[in-house]
Amino acid sequence: MTTRETLVILDYGSQYTQLIARRVRENHVYAEILPWNVTPERLLALAPVGIILSGGPNSVYAAGAPGLPEIVLSLGVPVLGICYGMQVLARALGGEVRSGSLHEYGATQVTVTQPSSLLFMGSPSSLMVWMSHGDQVAVLPEGFVEIARSQSGVRAAIADEARRLFGLQFHPEVIHTPLGAEVLRRFLFDVCGCAGDWTSEAFIATTVARIHQQVGQNGVVCGLSGGVDSAVTAALVHRAIGDQLTCIFVDTGLLRRDEVAQVEATFQRALGMRLIVVDASERFFTALAGVMEPEQKRRIIGESFIRVFESTAQQLPSIRFLAQGTIYPDVIESAGGPSTHRIKSHHNVGGLPEQMALELVEPLRELFKDEVRAVGLALGLPDVQIWRHPFPGPGLAVRILGEVTRERVATLQVADAIFLEELHAAGCYHQTAQAFAVLLPVQSVGVMGDYRTYADVVALRAVTTDDFMTADWAQLPYDLLARVSNRIVNEVRGVNRVVYDISSKPPATIEWE
Ligand code: XMP
Repeated sequence: MTTRETLVILDYGSQYTQLIARRVRENHVYAEILPWNVTPERLLALAPVGIILSGGPNSVYAAGAPGLPEIVLSLGVPVLGICYGMQVLARALGGEVRSGSLHEYGATQVTVTQPSSLLFMGSPSSLMVWMSHGDQVAVLPEGFVEIARSQSGVRAAIADEARRLFGLQFHPEVIHTPLGAEVLRRFLFDVCGCAGDWTSEAFIATTVARIHQQVGQNGVVCGLSGGVDSAVTAALVHRAIGDQLTCIFVDTGLLRRDEVAQVEATFQRALGMRLIVVDASERFFTALAGVMEPEQKRRIIGESFIRVFESTAQQLPSIRFLAQGTIYPDVIESAGGPSTHRIKSHHNVGGLPEQMALELVEPLRELFKDEVRAVGLALGLPDVQIWRHPFPGPGLAVRILGEVTRERVATLQVADAIFLEELHAAGCYHQTAQAFAVLLPVQSVGVMGDYRTYADVVALRAVTTDDFMTADWAQLPYDLLARVSNRIVNEVRGVNRVVYDISSKPPATIEWE
């Protein structure tokens, strides 16, 4: 296999480290985040074309503050230090960093003082940048010159062009530095000499070869969840080994309407995969009977899922591997976060049944979500599969408050399908990150014709968010909400009232449980 062009980002704990990686990758250069104190062997093995040092919350002169590993400079490749990264670089080379009397936070105007610098060649002489620092480089290391200065006189960028070492006091990776992407691009292409040939197609080609090598003639099993990660994993493994792959889709009875049919249409008919659909709904409903408590529901569903998956997989001949849709944010080791590899989050059905002793195939371990989508599209997965909202592993059980029964699932499926249908029709589906109906455990009085009714309440939830950690309720048009409400009370038996959830997260969550 050819060595892949890799740029390494050493993480000093900045909240923007992942963003740096994404900005680099947008230029078709593969970037990998490593903790700042990575072993020399690990760094050498990657043979990086350049190294970026991230920002971080520390002061370089504080006791125990992260420093610059010797290996970084001895590799002789270009280095770009950002914020704390610039200070750590300057200090390691004999410069001096001091706590400035002037702290700069937020949008700041900087002037390019060396327009011939590789980082600023062709850029305007003055640019808006995003600053966030208290310390500054007071004395430059030998060989360095200042290449940009902020309006308050702080060294905004420094360089030793001969040794290809650069420092930026500002954050080029954030959108508040409008020309930041340009600066990063110049570092990648003009300084590091990157080829920028890391595309979805290139990724697919190398990954297919890697899967071949890993699994040989053995069988691989993959659990489909209906979500994008497992779908792309399956498609990629299938591209590599065809019928050596068997996919299992467990119908828990807690899926959205038509979901089983859609999975069959995509994976079995369109992509020609071996697919086993297990109708295990009876088992799930039996286990869930009488259970009201949300955590208990989750536990029952998780355990039942693993058992069904396991017993189905064990009936397949010569399976040695389990393909799993772990993606990069699930595995990043960072200075700021937990430093061990995590297997995909606990509550995700499709996770590894531990007793099965299968080896893992995780072809998406290196990709961010948007890259997973691009690969999925390049593999021929349909748009609707790639762009669908996330759906929780325990399915509609987390959207039925109180007892989960077959009847209540059927009620919610219809209400949910109406909501999604109308969202699509109004062109609003992609303006929301997630949208769904919830069946509440309360009944309220209503009137239909001449009769009083006492029936269920459905809540509609639609949110906007980038990361699902925080979310806003979506400001859907009133006429759309009116149509949905009208259709639900008319078309869904047993529902006489529809409410719209206008809570943000926090303090609420996205799901109701
Ligand atoms: P909350 O409700 O915590 O949800 O704001 C955040 C995101 O996580 C999804 N979610 C789950 N996904 N298994 C999953 O795979 C689960 O048990 C689960 N619970 C919540 C939720 O849909 C939202 O996207």
